[in-house]
Amino acid sequence: MDIIFATNNAHKLTEVQAVLGPGYKLLTPRDCGVTEEIPEEQDTLEGNASQKAHYLHERTGMDCFADDTGLEVEALGGAPGVHSARYATDGHDFAANNRLLLKNLKGKANRRARFRTVISLLLDGEEHLFEGIVEGRIIDRETGHEGFGFDPLFIPDGYDRTFAQMTTGEKNEVSHRARAVRKLAAYLHSVEK
Ligand code: IMP
Repeated sequence: MDIIFATNNAHKLTEVQAVLGPGYKLLTPRDCGVTEEIPEEQDTLEGNASQKAHYLHERTGMDCFADDTGLEVEALGGAPGVHSARYATDGHDFAANNRLLLKNLKGKANRRARFRTVISLLLDGEEHLFEGIVEGRIIDRETGHEGFGFDPLFIPDGYDRTFAQMTTGEKNEVSHRARAVRKLAAYLHSVEK
């Protein structure tokens, strides 16, 4: 099955393709002629995932899905949450985001955090939402070079390494996105797509 995944992030594509397997050919917005930045202007993960999926569906008429992810840090009242991409600056500056997170957590004993992903699937024009969560903690300096975003600062529960010290396969065993994508895959199989 050909399906558009609303991302131009190569890390996300690799992760999601590995979970879905070879039965699904993931197309990027660019593959389908959508080259502009896809708007995500809502104040919830659900709202943003839905907005991105609808935007692509309206332009291409194809089945598609979009994900939106937030890092929710307990000691920061759930921040950066839906604002994770633009936490420190208006751009998607991962290094600046990580520096700001460490600054805001300085001296705080509670390091609990979780990643939450919401996926919006538009299949035959109908919307379906899937959620994935991984609980863990934020360490006090960047460790590891794999992955992207907050990966070098996040250790999932049950592990002693950050996501940035894991292969794609290891991250996919427990990650928020992989959990949401497995629900998406189960749904697609159930409707024989
Ligand atoms: P997005 O809007 O879904 O791309 O996610 C917002 C921000 O959350 C990104 O810019 C990253 O900083 C962060 N993020 C999303 N997914 C991950 C992940 O799997 N690991 C680490 N950081 C992530």
